[in-house]
Amino acid sequence: MTDWIQRWKENKIGWHRDKPNSKLIEFIDCLHLKQGDQVFVPLCGKSIDMMYLLDRGYRVFGVELSTLAAEQFFVENKIEYSIHQSGEFSVYSANNIQMYCGDYFKLKLEDFKSVVAVYDRASLIALPLELRVKYVSHLYSIITKGCRVLLLTLNYPQSQISGPPFAVNQEEVWSLYKKGFDCQQLQCFNDIENEPKFQRANVDFIEKATYCLRKK
Ligand SMILES: C[S@@+](CC[C@H](N)C(=O)[O-])C[C@H]1O[C@@H](n2cnc3c(N)ncnc32)[C@H](O)[C@@H]1O
Repeated sequence: MTDWIQRWKENKIGWHRDKPNSKLIEFIDCLHLKQGDQVFVPLCGKSIDMMYLLDRGYRVFGVELSTLAAEQFFVENKIEYSIHQSGEFSVYSANNIQMYCGDYFKLKLEDFKSVVAVYDRASLIALPLELRVKYVSHLYSIITKGCRVLLLTLNYPQSQISGPPFAVNQEEVWSLYKKGFDCQQLQCFNDIENEPKFQRANVDFIEKATYCLRKK
């Protein structure tokens, strides 16, 4: 099991990028957002994608286990913040953004009244299979009907390299989401030439897929 808190302490955060994700930029329209809408970013780390959303006039609601990630997000982006306690969560807040520090699985429906969309990059695929099942059923239980999800996944031969990130193919996305969500795959392509870590491990391919989901 990944010790995420320790990874943050040791700054082993190889997933973090300093530019917004190109698939967020390309496919954000599938979320049908209006100015001021609130987007939930589960397992958010200190993702710069949250700045992209804020800069476009959306509100952000993140959840993240590590307080170090939260502090770094606000400090590195030069955003003044305050901290208050809400139940089991330390909530880091500033204009238009709230980051709940604590366990995603402890979030409740009442926290989600104004969330209209979810952006999932490196969140579902950060978890091993048994937690992915739990992650999706928890997501279903906390978001409201009609809520849209932009989901980015990776798929590669899991026997050739271990996760995280874990391989999640289309079949698994369908089996995890189809019962509760309308599902559409927007794109899927092999990007092995841009993944040196996977090339070094002689992995045959790494498919990157983007999905748009809508809670039924
Ligand atoms: C692979 S990183 C991805 C971060 C972010 N989505 C990004 O794209 O940069 C996964 C993050 O999930 C956080 N995390 C793992 N389990 C969690 C949980 N149960 N509740 C909240 N955050 C969690 C970890 O601390 C880590 O920052």
